[in-house]
Amino acid sequence: MTITAVYPGSFDPITNGHLDIIERAAARLDRLVVLCSRNPGKEPMLAHPERLALIEESTGHLANVEVASFDGLLVEWCNDQGIRLAVKGLRAVSDFESELQMAQMNAHLGGVETLFMTTRPVYSYLSSSLVKEVAHFGGDVSDFVPPAVARRLAGH
Ligand code: PNS
Repeated sequence: MTITAVYPGSFDPITNGHLDIIERAAARLDRLVVLCSRNPGKEPMLAHPERLALIEESTGHLANVEVASFDGLLVEWCNDQGIRLAVKGLRAVSDFESELQMAQMNAHLGGVETLFMTTRPVYSYLSSSLVKEVAHFGGDVSDFVPPAVARRLAGH
């Protein structure tokens, strides 16, 4: 049996915390699709194609990881692709409530199960929003994001 999962997120931008989950999940699955989806609650800083290109560049070393994008309901994309499993990262208890709601909604709407992975403690305070804020005010984000993202946020 081949096990494929989707790792959905808005990745605005992808961080080392995302990458850590991707690497650890991919090492335990046959195939992982990183799906750049729209979060209706957030206005993105980076346009969709740019987020996608940064994910592709940052995951290029992982042979069983693919990158895709979708603008709609996650469960519809999963059902079209025949994927029944989503992977999500949990940083802290504060993530749990909304992730639980999304997992239960996705299970109800489309029979998509969610597996949660805890982030490594070193990334527990990391978020795309904080990275954007630090970068906006000229701070160094190179410890927190893949090199391609650091270059983009530094304006190179
Ligand atoms: O990285 P984020 O912003 O926390 O990711 C949230 C995301 C994109 C995974 C979530 O908003 C999502 O699944 N969006 C697709 C639309 C959808 O299916 N919404 C219902 C989720 S229960």
